[in-house]
Amino acid sequence: MSEAVKTTDRTNEIETVRLGRNLGAEIRNLDLSQHLTANEFGVVHRAFLENEILVFRDQDIDARDQIAFGRMFGDLSIHPFSPNLAGMPELIVLDNHQGNPPRLTDQWHSDETFRETPPMATILRSTITPKLGGDTMFASMSAAYEGLSDEIQRLISGLEGIFDFKPFRTLFNNDPESKKRLLEIEDEHPIRTHPVVRVHPESGRKSIFVNPQFTIGIKGMKEEESRALLTMLFDQAKVPEYQFRHHWEQNTMIMWDNRCVLHYAIHDYYPQRRRMERVTIAGDKPFGPDAPYDGPHIGRPELTLSEQDAPPQDGEEPVRNFKR
Ligand SMILES: [Fe+2]
Repeated sequence: MSEAVKTTDRTNEIETVRLGRNLGAEIRNLDLSQHLTANEFGVVHRAFLENEILVFRDQDIDARDQIAFGRMFGDLSIHPFSPNLAGMPELIVLDNHQGNPPRLTDQWHSDETFRETPPMATILRSTITPKLGGDTMFASMSAAYEGLSDEIQRLISGLEGIFDFKPFRTLFNNDPESKKRLLEIEDEHPIRTHPVVRVHPESGRKSIFVNPQFTIGIKGMKEEESRALLTMLFDQAKVPEYQFRHHWEQNTMIMWDNRCVLHYAIHDYYPQRRRMERVTIAGDKPFGPDAPYDGPHIGRPELTLSEQDAPPQDGEEPVRNFKR
């Protein structure tokens, strides 16, 4: 990112193009190799809260630009397990290829939810993309929450999910050194709880805040009760209406709201190479609907209808569907 002082403001040129009904928008006409002005940042931030995922295409930028962009939203966080580059601990390089198959990503999850304060957002930028496959799936868990019946919404509001860094346990071997390290990590990241229904701290939207990678139970429930309820909630991410699928091209950067979106990296490209650089923005402690919330209420954008959406006019043959 150039250190030159910017003299132009691109706010009026920025286009936000929705990609999905419930989540996803592309930001156009914004070259991220230049610093964002406060107004430009305001447009991007608002679009992020409304759409939960932002896509920036054709960004010929480097890790420093990505880090600078992330820092506009807040402090960056450092992953407790992932190896990082010397001198750039905020950057995670995900480089999968023959000999280094992808791990732990082909399961629905939101990043690092075993932490007391899970990240607010993850920013992923593609540097090498496979010719075939390697898409990332996303699910809006706020849309999933809204899709539940009132009865189930009531049942799960106020419940606490139990979280553990479970899949990362497989990274530790059985030798004394690894066992010692695992005990230290368990001390740093004990099993903890988060609300099953999370209220978004910036938009007020409620979402289902459990995921199959890190949620191992529900506080106060018997194991089989937990399992049944969690299976039903996990399955919400599989509903196509709540999903958005992104096909990667080189130099694309995606930022998703880790507070209300689950993601799943599809494991269908190996042994082709897929290389990504990731930056993670620190978040706050999740709270549920019982806690006071006096922030703004930001909904998803209204659907705008065009002329072609008008119902058939007089004289057109009406088509009758089967009743649902
Ligand atoms: Fe992830």
